[in-house]
Amino acid sequence: MDTAVKEKQQLNKKTKEDPKNFGATLWVYKGEKGALIPLLQSAQDTYGYIPESAIDGISEVTGIPSADIYGVITFYSQFRLKPLGKYVVKICDGTACHVNGSKDLISIIRDELGITNNETTEDGLFTLQEVACLGCCSLSPVIMINDETYGRLDSKKLKTILKEYKSKES
Ligand code: FES
Repeated sequence: MDTAVKEKQQLNKKTKEDPKNFGATLWVYKGEKGALIPLLQSAQDTYGYIPESAIDGISEVTGIPSADIYGVITFYSQFRLKPLGKYVVKICDGTACHVNGSKDLISIIRDELGITNNETTEDGLFTLQEVACLGCCSLSPVIMINDETYGRLDSKKLKTILKEYKSKES
């Protein structure tokens, strides 16, 4: 493997372990074409989202204006400008879940939490992510909250689950 690639991989690893290393990661890409996306990925891996300070740093080393970097971040749905909530609620709207009523469940989550896809509640507790398949179609309709999977849901079960998470925090 090329030494420069190895160096970047090691830096990315160090940066994940300690966000202070993000500065070093930035400078290793200085002047390199196509550095924007890897730097955005590194920032997001480091902080869980892409903070303004990282955008400023990326702008400095790449020479790309911050406004253009914001444009790229908002274009790609995998990048986030805000931290994820404490609980990431993933609801599947893949074929199996869809035919078993996931649309109604999505409406319930949106109503109960007051957020839409890829949004986080004001209190930072919940982020909603609508996804294509969670890999457990036989349990459809399915949601995951962090690493916990809840299957064969109906509106009543879903409301109970959300209530439990909310009351844990109140
Ligand atoms: S379609 Fe929903 S888990 Fe696969």
